[in-house]
Amino acid sequence: MDTPASRRPSAAAGAPDGLAAVRRVDYSGDGLVESDVSDSPFLQAREWIDAAVAAAAEREDVPEPTAISVATVDPSGAPDVRTVLMRFFDERGPGFVTNLDSAKSRHLRANPRVAAALTWPSLYRAIRFRGTAQLVERDEVEAYFDSRPYGSRLSAWASDQSSPAADRAELERRWQEVLERFPDTGGAHDVPVPDFWGGWRVRCDEVEFWAGRRNRLHDRIVFRRTGEGDLADASAWERLRLQP
Ligand SMILES: Cc1cc2nc3c(=O)[nH]c(=O)nc-3n(C[C@H](O)[C@H](O)[C@H](O)COP(=O)(O)O)c2cc1C
Repeated sequence: MDTPASRRPSAAAGAPDGLAAVRRVDYSGDGLVESDVSDSPFLQAREWIDAAVAAAAEREDVPEPTAISVATVDPSGAPDVRTVLMRFFDERGPGFVTNLDSAKSRHLRANPRVAAALTWPSLYRAIRFRGTAQLVERDEVEAYFDSRPYGSRLSAWASDQSSPAADRAELERRWQEVLERFPDTGGAHDVPVPDFWGGWRVRCDEVEFWAGRRNRLHDRIVFRRTGEGDLADASAWERLRLQP
C-alpha cells in the first residue's frame, strides 16, 4: 500500500523525495564583518580566491577552486547557466576561455549581460559577479592557449562546442584528425589558436561576498558600481550589507 504523502519522511521535512536525507550542515565559517572587508572588490576577491586555491592544494574538499558558474540570457530572454574554469582574474574582472561559436558565446554577443558565481561550500564562501561580458584580448588568449597541454589544445580544434554530434566515435575521429594535422613537436606553438576559440571577461557592476554563518544568519557584503573605475579602484564602488 502506498504511504500517504503526509507520512513520508521527506514530505514531512518539506523537501522533495530523497533530498530530506541530505545532512543538514550549520555553516560555521569565519563570516565577514565590515572591518575586515577590503576597500575594493578586487582585493577582497583576490584574498578569497587565493585562500581557495591554497586550500585546494592542502585538502580534498575544494576540488576545483576556480570553477565558476556563468549565466547568460538567450535571444528569447530565457536564462542559461553552465560551469567553466576561471582562467583570468585581475582588476578588469574574472575571465574564462571557450569556443566563440558556443551557445554561451552566441548569447553574449547578442546580449552581453552576464552573471557568474564562484562557490566554495566547504569554506562557507561564495562570490557573485554581475556585469557585462567583453572579449578577452587576443594576445592574452594566445598566451593562455599556448600554456595548455597538447591534448587540450587539440580538443579546442576538435569540438564544435554546443553543436550536436552523432556519437562519441565522431568526436574521437575528429580529435584523431587534428592530431595528424598538428603533430606534437613538444613546443608551445605546434597547435595554433583556432579563430573560433577565445575568452570572455566580466566587467563587473556588482560583486557580492557571501559568508555562511551559524543558524543561516549569513553575511552578505556587496560592492555596487558608482563610477567608472576598475575593481581595484575603491572610489568606483559603494559597499553595503544585504540581509541573508
Ligand atoms: C568543472 C567544469 C569546468 C568546465 N570548464 C569549461 C571551460 O573552461 N570552458 C568551456 O567552454 N566549457 C567548460 N566546461 C563545460 C561547460 O560547462 C559547458 O558544457 C560548455 O562550455 C558548453 O556550454 P554552452 O553550450 O552553454 O556554451 C566545464 C564544465 C565543468 C563541469
